[in-house]
Amino acid sequence: YQKLLDFPQDFLWGASTSAYQVEGGWDADGKSPSIIDMYEHPAGYADFTVASDHYHRFEEDIALFAQMGLKAYRFSIAWTRILPNGTGEVNRAGVEHYRAVIRACRKYNIEPIVTMYHFDLPWCLEQQGGWLNRATIDAFEAYCRVLLEEYGDAVKYWLTINEQNTMILHPGAIGLPKGGVLPSRRELYQMNHHMMLAQARVMKLCHAMCSQAKIGPALNLTAMYPETCRPEDAIAAHNWEVLRCWNFADVPVFGWYHPLAVRYLEDRGLMPDVQPGDRETLSGAHPDFIAMNYYSTATIAASRGDASDVSARAGDQQIMLGEEGVYRAAENPYVGKTKYGWVIDPTGFRYTLRKVCERYHLPILITENGIGAPDVLEDDGSIHDPYRIEFYEQHLHAMREAITDGVEMMGYCPWSALDVVSTHQGYAKRYGFIYVDRDEQDCRSMRRLPKDSFYWYQKTIAENGKNL
Ligand code: BG6
Repeated sequence: YQKLLDFPQDFLWGASTSAYQVEGGWDADGKSPSIIDMYEHPAGYADFTVASDHYHRFEEDIALFAQMGLKAYRFSIAWTRILPNGTGEVNRAGVEHYRAVIRACRKYNIEPIVTMYHFDLPWCLEQQGGWLNRATIDAFEAYCRVLLEEYGDAVKYWLTINEQNTMILHPGAIGLPKGGVLPSRRELYQMNHHMMLAQARVMKLCHAMCSQAKIGPALNLTAMYPETCRPEDAIAAHNWEVLRCWNFADVPVFGWYHPLAVRYLEDRGLMPDVQPGDRETLSGAHPDFIAMNYYSTATIAASRGDASDVSARAGDQQIMLGEEGVYRAAENPYVGKTKYGWVIDPTGFRYTLRKVCERYHLPILITENGIGAPDVLEDDGSIHDPYRIEFYEQHLHAMREAITDGVEMMGYCPWSALDVVSTHQGYAKRYGFIYVDRDEQDCRSMRRLPKDSFYWYQKTIAENGKNL
């Protein structure tokens, strides 16, 4: 290009958190336990009972977000605060808590972007079968109806379900049920179908109840590279891209599963039970945008048809699962890695954005992107995180290239606004622009301290990204 296009004037420069990872107050003011509170998590890591204590400190945190210049704050609402029984009676204390959070955002002209469900299903619903039980669809709709009634006037942007593809394809990533037994793959695809129906009903409800609101799914999307130009590697990479990404985004946008995924599911006896009316429900609702979380790309090779297909490791981390007979995870020599073994690939970000744009022709909102690192607090209270600044500079530059390519971008909400508990790697793996003074087991002062990346993001937002 002779010239890169500018970021749009109304671009939503934001940052993200999720309820269970940031709030703490796990049983405060009538909240009931969610699956996160009841599941087993690796020993030695911080649990979620106190997290970053945002439940009690959100005013201070949002004031800091305003100082950073945020124009949007993406957070999730804990279903268990609003409806402690999963459905039925509304807990006013929970409702008023999020009203205060939204009010604090509005006070600083920060646009609230609300995730309705981020991994934390009420435990009482789980005990009745969770997402395997069709009644959970009604419960989700009832819960979201309360959100739309209570906050419909104050919230314009809604996200239905965070990373449904992670929950279905990597269920262990968000914790293990006691005894460690995960649902079977057949059950997972049935749960997926119910989540799709729940999401469709809520998108429709949102449009009916709040004509100004915009709503969309928040998936983890990433382009796949074939390991070589061997045609079999290209087929394998395409297989995994279809099964991991497009099969989850096609349903909300086009109203049915990806044709290749349908054949894959039928062939393996994994196709969910579809009841009369389901197809109409799925095709009768449409998102206004695609929200996506992007961290890394993956590189894929043809299956060897044996056990060597099923895992790829970086150090002691299992970073990707392969599937025997379908694809095998491979290494990419052209990309870097974080300390935790996650691929760093800004150009892959541009590539993924182009693919999502090409496939769905919808505006895109980035709801997560970021780098986990063991940041160090210096004696003078500073935190130097040049790796994070470099990561964001590169990814935002790639996004600007994607905008110049013609991709319509609504905003960027990296992970995370402040340090939070990682899904399965505790507190030392930090993502925030703001350091929280605690470690795995010791809650210390819980003081909030801006990292170098805080000041960098502040400047970038003030310039509307013109130097990227
Ligand atoms: C996303 C989730 O998958 O990745 C977040 O939506 C999560 O909840 C983030 O925290 C980073 O993953 P992790 O495991 O490093 O915390």
